[in-house]
Amino acid sequence: MSTHNIWIHKGTFLLAAVGSAVGLGNLWRFPYLAGENGGGAFFLVYALTIFAVGIPILIAETMLGRASRRSPIMGMRFLAHTHHTARAWTSIGWLGGLSAFLILSFYSVIAGWAIHYTWQMLTGTLAGADAETTAAGFDALLASPTLLTLYHTLFIIASGLVVGLGVHQGIERGLRVIMPALFVILLVVLAYGVTHGDFTAATDFLFTFNIADLSLAGWLEAMGQSFFTLSLGMGAIMAYGAYMSGEVSLTRTAIAIAVIDTAVAMVAGLAIFSLVFGAGLDAGQGPGLMFVTLPLAFAEMPGGSLIGGVFFVLVLGAALSSSISLIEPVAAYLVERFDLTRPQAVFIMVVATWALGLLTVVSFNLWAENSLFHELFGRSAFALFELLTNILMPLGGLLIALFAGWVLTHSEVMKEMRTNTTWFALWRFLVRFVAPAAVAFVFLRAIPQIDGYLIPAIGAVVIVGAFAAGRTFLTDDNQAP
Ligand code: PFF
Repeated sequence: MSTHNIWIHKGTFLLAAVGSAVGLGNLWRFPYLAGENGGGAFFLVYALTIFAVGIPILIAETMLGRASRRSPIMGMRFLAHTHHTARAWTSIGWLGGLSAFLILSFYSVIAGWAIHYTWQMLTGTLAGADAETTAAGFDALLASPTLLTLYHTLFIIASGLVVGLGVHQGIERGLRVIMPALFVILLVVLAYGVTHGDFTAATDFLFTFNIADLSLAGWLEAMGQSFFTLSLGMGAIMAYGAYMSGEVSLTRTAIAIAVIDTAVAMVAGLAIFSLVFGAGLDAGQGPGLMFVTLPLAFAEMPGGSLIGGVFFVLVLGAALSSSISLIEPVAAYLVERFDLTRPQAVFIMVVATWALGLLTVVSFNLWAENSLFHELFGRSAFALFELLTNILMPLGGLLIALFAGWVLTHSEVMKEMRTNTTWFALWRFLVRFVAPAAVAFVFLRAIPQIDGYLIPAIGAVVIVGAFAAGRTFLTDDNQAP
């Protein structure tokens, strides 16, 4: 029997999914990756994948959740069983669990940086500071494993409490305020960037498409980012879809999520790059980009401490509504599969990800270079997790597209989509052919470039492991009905 409740209000799924989608991916990750990968070409690949691949997979993933009404692992097992197809499809759920675990481990560390800056803003520490001072402040933060661990711990406990106590609904109600407020404050920062920074340089940077500028690794990062920003391909959306009312149109909802999410990323990107070019900062400086640029703007603008403080509080709200969607699918699985209570399941997930997050903490200081990780993987743990995210999320999305496109029946899909046959045909063409081909194309080109054999080897282990888990872990007496 399904253990799931159904969200009564039609708009709840949209709100929760937007809460999951809009987060550090839009504000922190999009600008930093676009900055590192030359801007326009990155943006083009990112935007194309969102609309041609992301939206159809978003529909597909929600559909799998709603059709199974179970957590992703149990849900995929149920769907594979009821459609008389290979149990190996359960690997979608397993891969998703693995991704959730990896992503949350570093997401929480980065969200911790926002806690630090909330504090700095509200205490007025940075008021009037110049570019050098703000950059030095950020470096000092990164150099301290203690501070990073403290903030990481606070953030992950907060996320765990929300999911463990089952108070999503409080957060969702909060999102009705947080999301519009965040957008408004981003517009204020953008307006400041336009008047005090270099807006023309920012638009040139983001919208001058020269695809030759993009390295193969950049292609992978752009595609990975489009999955990351939509929370796609790892079960978060599937878990939320499982609670979604049966009456809502999947197509319209998915388009709304993608449009809102892209709008937030674009406003954040334009604001940040206007300030970056105006202040002569380096667009390709990496993960610190947002945390060096925005505090500088808040330090200079009138009332900046207050505006900055409110801004970082809203960033934390957006990050929290994303992190809870990373905990939800794994926790729901542990509850369904092992009969744990919700708090027990969340506790296990949170402790494990917290520990893994320590590797990201030391990636910025003790193990920033020449560590064991560098010897083994040629990069820091944080960089490895980022890379794996860019591989695992599209891989999960590819499998979801194939399952929804080829295994679900025509009538099931029509019932879920509630659209006319033209939309249906377009969607099916996209999930059957376009999405898998696009993901495979980028993988085949980009992955072999990464460190010779290492990454393909990890990829192979992950895939084989997930399939093996899907086949053997689930004994027959645990079969779905
Ligand atoms: N989409 C979130 C963001 O852009 O910040 C990150 C994320 C949340 C990724 C949930 C994956 C996920 F399941």
